[in-house]
Amino acid sequence: MTYRRRPGESTHLSGGPDWERPLDFEGNSRPIADEWARWHIPDCDYLVLRDAVLALMSIDLLHYRTLQMERRLATHLQRSGHENWTLYAQSLRQQPEEARRFLKFLTINVSSFYRDSDKWDYLAGTILPKLLSRCQPRGLEAWSVGCSIGAEPYTLAMLLRELAGHRRHRIHAGDIDPVILEMAQAAGPYSNNDIRELPSDLVSHYLLARDDSHYRVCAEIRGMVHFARFDILKDRAVQMYDLVICRNLVIYFTPAMKERVFLNLAQSVRPGGVFFIGSTETIPNYGQCGFRYLAPSFYQRME
Ligand SMILES: C[S@@+](CC[C@H](N)C(=O)[O-])C[C@H]1O[C@@H](n2cnc3c(N)ncnc32)[C@H](O)[C@@H]1O
Repeated sequence: MTYRRRPGESTHLSGGPDWERPLDFEGNSRPIADEWARWHIPDCDYLVLRDAVLALMSIDLLHYRTLQMERRLATHLQRSGHENWTLYAQSLRQQPEEARRFLKFLTINVSSFYRDSDKWDYLAGTILPKLLSRCQPRGLEAWSVGCSIGAEPYTLAMLLRELAGHRRHRIHAGDIDPVILEMAQAAGPYSNNDIRELPSDLVSHYLLARDDSHYRVCAEIRGMVHFARFDILKDRAVQMYDLVICRNLVIYFTPAMKERVFLNLAQSVRPGGVFFIGSTETIPNYGQCGFRYLAPSFYQRME
């Protein structure tokens, strides 16, 4: 029998009431109920898919189970042309190309250099000078988790090079997707779209044009960033950092999992260090994480 969850009801699969339930103008939650009825994937189907993805990619889909994700999954199934999740799971196991498509669908690698430029301006103008003065004479140690194509850690490397080029900075960068990490490690080629927000002086100092529309990051900046596969849901950072960047990654997770992820990541920020998140994100439990709020997208670990 299929267990059908009502909006807001907790299930053994999700581990908590994970569905966002905004009220409409009359104060009831009908819109989300309609959405739920339309897109909800029965637990037995979700488990079939989860088992295949766990076995093939070591990714646990239970932590990604939100209304938004179920809606995307349902659309993905329709587009794939498979009749149901059992057939889709079979093709995942039998066709490496389908598995690759699914990983791409799941991880949404959208990223770009200097993305949300006002945040990078604030980082460069206010946060980095303070962090650099705290950690001197050594270089800054930073970690970019969910780094996608590498645009984020390379942007940071460029700023550090500009602000304190004489010091030896170390940037670690991780992502769950091994294919995207290969591109990141290769430092390109990046398109005009990938660099659209990058200030022109940084473009001219640190990017090498391959042709009119493709660029690579120069060796000096590449050498500052070290990439490794990292699953934020399973792996633990082995050291502490002055700056941890985790932007536009937790948006895929259930609220309960977001809280856990932030609590864990907070442990890898040095006291006095800074945690940098995405423009649309907040950390509701920031006090519990040992953070104080600095500015939109920035928190500081208390000493
Ligand atoms: C939308 S991109 C954000 C990239 C970059 N941080 C930015 O804001 O431009 C999200 C990245 O998170 C990665 N990701 C998703 N789940 C992850 C997990 N459990 N552990 C580590 N990375 C994950 C995806 O592969 C993807 O590259």
